[in-house]
Amino acid sequence: MTTARKRIAVLISGRGSNLPSLLGNELAGDIVVIGSNKADAKGLDIARNVGIANFVVSHKDFASREAFDTAMVAALNVYRPHLVVLAGFMRITTPVFTQAFAGRLINIHPALLPSFPGLHTHARAIEEGVKLHGSTVHFVTPELDRGPIIAQAAVHVEDDDTAETLAAKVLLQEHQIFPYAVRLFCEGRLQVDGLRVRTLPKSTATVIDSASARV
Ligand code: GRF
Repeated sequence: MTTARKRIAVLISGRGSNLPSLLGNELAGDIVVIGSNKADAKGLDIARNVGIANFVVSHKDFASREAFDTAMVAALNVYRPHLVVLAGFMRITTPVFTQAFAGRLINIHPALLPSFPGLHTHARAIEEGVKLHGSTVHFVTPELDRGPIIAQAAVHVEDDDTAETLAAKVLLQEHQIFPYAVRLFCEGRLQVDGLRVRTLPKSTATVIDSASARV
């Protein structure tokens, strides 16, 4: 039901720089847990400080990506999330993970996908001489950094930009589009058609939801 607030789980691996914007904006849902594959992820301090449940499943404790993903899926399911948000979760996920949360798993990537999938996106953007760079929020599918795009924000690459200055500019935009995309999901307003995501007006989403609720 779009009327009920959604339960959101967030995974991080590092400083969790997107967490304040996710926690500080109305998402039409509640972050019920923050998990990490790294015990020393700085972002876990944010969870502790605001009293949100948190856990660590270390990838180092597992012999394969699939075994790690199986454990991570189990840890997340304890919290019965409607949505799993990857916010700087630096692991390549296997189908074990993507299938467990198919259609309710989203990621933020620091580039304008499908350009620059993978790592070191800002340095690669500078090297390639692109004039626009940015960030993408997308549904996660088995193919790395290739799922249906929910939202994007672009920044100009200036002549004197470095990978560091570009990263800082992109991050500011991430803090705008990430909570926006999460909210659209929680409001039931995302309609996926192949690689295309259409955003339903708020009223339409409510009508569709209440209609299906009567069936
Ligand atoms: C962001 O740049 C995001 O696009 C990428 O991870 C970064 C945030 O992670 N997926 P963190 O703040 O360094 O933990």
